[in-house]
Amino acid sequence: MPLNKSEPVLIIGAGTFGLSTAHKLATLGHTNVAVLEKDDRVPSRFSGGFDLNKIIRSEYIDPFYTDVALQAIRQWQTSPLYQPHFRQVGFLNVITGEAPPVVQNALFKYNKSVAENPAFDGYLVPCQDAAAIRKVASQFTGELPGWKGYLNRLAGYAQASNAMQAVYKECVKLGVVFHVGLAGEVEELLYEATDGNDKMCIGARTKDGVVHTARTTIVAAGGFVANVLPAIGPQISAVCWGVSHIQLTPSESEALRGFPVTTVRDIGFFFEPDPATHKIKICYMGGGYTNVTAQKGGLSVPYASLAESEYIPEKDVKQTRRLLRQVLPHIAERPLIDQHLCWVADTGNSDFIIDFVPGTTNNSLAVLSGDSGHGFKMMPIVGDWAADLLSNGEQKLPRWRWREPKVADKDGRPTHIAWRATATIDLSSTPRAKL
Ligand SMILES: Cc1cc2nc3c(=O)[nH]c(=O)nc-3n(C[C@H](O)[C@H](O)[C@H](O)COP(=O)(O)OP(=O)(O)OC[C@H]3O[C@@H](n4cnc5c(N)ncnc54)[C@H](O)[C@@H]3O)c2cc1C
Ligand SMILES: *[C@@H]1O[C@H](CO)[C@@H](O)[C@H](O)[C@H]1NC(C)=O
Ligand SMILES: *[C@@H]1O[C@H](CO)[C@@H](O)[C@H](O)[C@H]1NC(C)=O
Ligand SMILES: *[C@@H]1O[C@H](CO)[C@@H](O)[C@H](O)[C@H]1NC(C)=O
Repeated sequence: MPLNKSEPVLIIGAGTFGLSTAHKLATLGHTNVAVLEKDDRVPSRFSGGFDLNKIIRSEYIDPFYTDVALQAIRQWQTSPLYQPHFRQVGFLNVITGEAPPVVQNALFKYNKSVAENPAFDGYLVPCQDAAAIRKVASQFTGELPGWKGYLNRLAGYAQASNAMQAVYKECVKLGVVFHVGLAGEVEELLYEATDGNDKMCIGARTKDGVVHTARTTIVAAGGFVANVLPAIGPQISAVCWGVSHIQLTPSESEALRGFPVTTVRDIGFFFEPDPATHKIKICYMGGGYTNVTAQKGGLSVPYASLAESEYIPEKDVKQTRRLLRQVLPHIAERPLIDQHLCWVADTGNSDFIIDFVPGTTNNSLAVLSGDSGHGFKMMPIVGDWAADLLSNGEQKLPRWRWREPKVADKDGRPTHIAWRATATIDLSSTPRAKL
């Protein structure tokens, strides 16, 4: 039952997935697209994509995602909308001499996956030791103790919130309507009973009491998805990572600029100084943190207010400094500023969920979720997935269907995911850093 292009479509969430979808539908000629966003501005500070920068790389241990991410990278390289926000500085994927076997093994698998894929021919530089790493990142003045891995030049980073801003502006030009703040924060989805056990979604009510009706409603609420769509709870867990920054002077920033995005798999990742703000963004990778509360039926959900998320745990501070001492010791003890927790929606196996919601009729309710912390790079093509879903009337790819949780522990949280260095722990059992 393909959607008529004049019928109302409602998108909940102006984050990475929601903006991409609004843009795609508008370019396809949909004339009645509205987006609801709970922040009072777009790009939204609640979005996992609201950051200086995000890694854009296409290597995955699972070749399915390598192919998908390669399609996305082609768009980052060539699309007039996305290309201005992409920096193809390369991706340095390494481990330290202290990496545990599970991390050594992950690096080995990543390396093998790109070495054996012809798409990366001519882009790979093996970096067997610290000296080889210094050849591709001369700015690294630290000892790089035991560091080894490889550089992939078919990768880099996006200036993330700038890209979101550009897509937002384009959406507005194309006639997409945005409601923000209390007028954009969805309190509940609205349904109409139909024959049998099913119901039809007819839109949503926002905090200001206004009802937004739609033929098709698309939930793209990131880590907050279970607040809007509680039925997805068992297959999603909101998980966060701590992000912080170091402020450099313009001349320090100039001196350091040009190194590849660097992931030290057993500690964390960091980016070259941002050309506009002269800040280095850095993130301890760990297994991430959940926020499981009884009031949400044992589900992990993110913060209610921005202020509650403006810190990073003590462990993140320690690991961030440990990483900096190894690579850029002269700035390792500087203040870690603009600290915040960044939330994503994790599935048990990191597969996305791009599907209609079972039990709702007439393709009236779809969900784009389960980004599992690797969704930003997909921004140029997420809208294609949503448009395909609407025109096909079903999700043809089994791995992106709505599913019951396959891998979960007794608390319903996803269990350890292979590409993460350590298991997830709850924020309640993690001390905050002393300021
Ligand atoms: C520390 C960190 C580093 C990351 N690094 C990378 C990376 O290097 N590369 C990469 O590809 N990905 C990365 N990611 C993942 C990426 O940010 C996410 O996959 C992506 O942002 C998910 O997009 P989304 O649209 O599903 O959710 P979001 O972008 O979080 O958007 C959800 C939106 O829904 C809105 N919303 C929520 N509830 C409501 C409501 N009730 N009513 C209205 N609006 C609502 C929110 O305000 C938000 O704007 C990283 C994530 C984190 C946390
Ligand atoms: C990566 O693969 C190449 C080619 O097979 C190999 O020479 C190199 O040693 C590997 N490096 C790592 C860190 O596994
Ligand atoms: C944890 O979840 C509760 C809701 O159950 C929320 O009010 C709170 O802000 C969350 N804490 C953080 C740090 O996100
Ligand atoms: C929903 O779908 C059913 C079956 O296809 C159809 O009979 C009905 O008219 C549809 N309702 C709406 C409001 O589109």
